[in-house]
Amino acid sequence: MTARGWSYWSRNKLEILQGYLPAFNQAAKSVEERIYLDLMAGEPENFDRDTEKKFDGSARIALSTTPSFTRFAFGELPPRAARIKADLEARHPGAPFRIYPGDCNVTVKRMLADLNDVRWAPMFAFLDQQAAELHWETMATLAAFRKGKFKSEQWILWSPAMIVKGATGSNGDAFADRVDRMYGSDRWRKILGARQADSITASDFRAEMVNLLRWQFETELGYRHTIRIPMTMKTGTALYDMVFATDHEAGLKIMSHLYKKAAEREPRMRQEALDAQSGQEALFGDYAGPLPEWKSEPCWDPSERPWWR
Ligand SMILES: C[S@@+](CC[C@H](N)C(=O)[O-])C[C@H]1O[C@@H](n2cnc3c(N)ncnc32)[C@H](O)[C@@H]1O
Repeated sequence: MTARGWSYWSRNKLEILQGYLPAFNQAAKSVEERIYLDLMAGEPENFDRDTEKKFDGSARIALSTTPSFTRFAFGELPPRAARIKADLEARHPGAPFRIYPGDCNVTVKRMLADLNDVRWAPMFAFLDQQAAELHWETMATLAAFRKGKFKSEQWILWSPAMIVKGATGSNGDAFADRVDRMYGSDRWRKILGARQADSITASDFRAEMVNLLRWQFETELGYRHTIRIPMTMKTGTALYDMVFATDHEAGLKIMSHLYKKAAEREPRMRQEALDAQSGQEALFGDYAGPLPEWKSEPCWDPSERPWWR
């Protein structure tokens, strides 16, 4: 088994997932089918780089959810896809999942074609990318898939910090083209330009980049609600955001509650990682500082910013 090393913020992210999926299925319990889609399923198991603690990856978490989903589709690149397949087959023989090896921006079409008979079913899609692997068409295709009043929920990792690193690095032009593909246009370059001209701070840059995604989800894809939570590194800098898009009041309420809890957990997890790094015995929960408050802020029209033109 190849477990993969992540930091506490990945654990925190997956704890949100672990809290959300049972609540999603509980809320949709009266519906005959419930779909879980995971475009980048990773490894079956991970470990915390600082504390060495093992934790399950998203595929295992999804398959262990109670009440359960009735259909699962997992995307991942080979050879990781084969490891996920072997692990899930051994742990959940006969469970209704399929693995789609390859670029998820391509395989998503097959995943959805295979789910065509249950287009009416509640669906949660996890898009757990690393930097800028997703294509905007993929998110738009997911949004257009379901029949009926509610679109598929989407939960997406968005990392302005990785974008700025890639776009200003040695292979910057090629990376920036990928970012165009991820936003579906080059509008994000206005935000990068504003940052490079020092018209906005690094923290404004991150907020604007995440806002642009939320704005597109709400105005182009027609989602009723989007919320974000920044995941913060040991240095205190936000490394990425988890963006949630839903049409459902219940989904919004449950995820908002879980975001609040994750924000409260974060300083403790960070302290635990720092303790482990400095060789002190890590005592999870020994953080005594103030707990940050998470609250949802509405997104704004990015073109109204003075530097947009
Ligand atoms: C952040 S990890 C996923 C972690 C996983 N969801 C978990 O909970 O453990 C991102 C994964 O995306 C995969 N990946 C990168 N580009 C991809 C693509 N175009 N299509 C499918 N998977 C991709 C990588 O191999 C990597 O395992």
